Amino acid sequence: MFGKLSLDAIPFHEPIIMGTLTMVALGGVALCALITYFGKWKWLWNDWFTSVDHKKIGIMYTVVALIMLLRGFADAIMMRTQLALSTNGSPGILPPEHYDQIFTAHGVIMIFFVAMPLMTGLMNLVVPLQIGARDVAFPFLNTLSFWLFVAGAMLVNVSLGVGEFARTGWLAYPPLSGIAYSPGVGVDYYLWSLQISGLGTLLTGVNFLVTILRMRAPGMTLMRMPVFTWTALCTNVLIIAAFPVLTVTLGLLGATPRCTS
Ligand code: HEM
Repeated sequence: MFGKLSLDAIPFHEPIIMGTLTMVALGGVALCALITYFGKWKWLWNDWFTSVDHKKIGIMYTVVALIMLLRGFADAIMMRTQLALSTNGSPGILPPEHYDQIFTAHGVIMIFFVAMPLMTGLMNLVVPLQIGARDVAFPFLNTLSFWLFVAGAMLVNVSLGVGEFARTGWLAYPPLSGIAYSPGVGVDYYLWSLQISGLGTLLTGVNFLVTILRMRAPGMTLMRMPVFTWTALCTNVLIIAAFPVLTVTLGLLGATPRCTS
């Protein structure tokens, strides 16, 4: 089931990563214990995780984006610490290949998993209310988009523990991201996390375009539409124009044989 993934992929020799993983694992166990103690699993599952209500999905987008902001912030702290300490010939605290992964993960996380979901969350919360619609045009597609985004975000975080992340910078331009210059699995994590969450973003774009164009209250012509909904409309047109290109590009990069080991 795990293909070539084995325990060797876990960087046991890296104290920073192992320390972080331990803290995350302890935090996860404590959170699960608290939810079990207060008997909130059923409530979480029924009222939140499986909800198709646009307001709840908007709140969940915001919560996950803020958690990812903490991760991006932790990366930023490590980068600034490294830059501060690696003077006068001192190598600092991070080896070069680790610094490059943190640098890339920071950019990817802040743009794709913080800034964008914060906007999507806000659109979910505000747009249907502003145009007088009961929900978005395709509520199930909305929740599917959210969970695709969560899956992509988890993949970025998993790369911290099993394997590595891309060392290419957040734009991952070829040929640097190609097999010749990035032979490890780091770029694969980059490609799949963006591909999965990008699909969610594209579906969101279609969903909101249809919602805004077709579900406005009677009498709300385009010129009477609130300015925020106008910006949401423009954003979603741009998403629909740009994300298929990203999808194909990531697909092409992923289709080349990636892992040499
Ligand atoms: C918490 C405060 C933050 C700090 C201290 C911080 C720090 C840094 C540092 C040190 C770099 C590397 C710059 C270099 O060496 O050229 C960087 C890159 C970057 N940061 Fe931040 N950052 C912060 C917040 C953010 C936020 C909020 C965003 C976006 C929403 C963001 C997006 C980026 C991007 C896109 C890059 C370029 C990454 C790349 O080229 O691969 N950062 N940041």
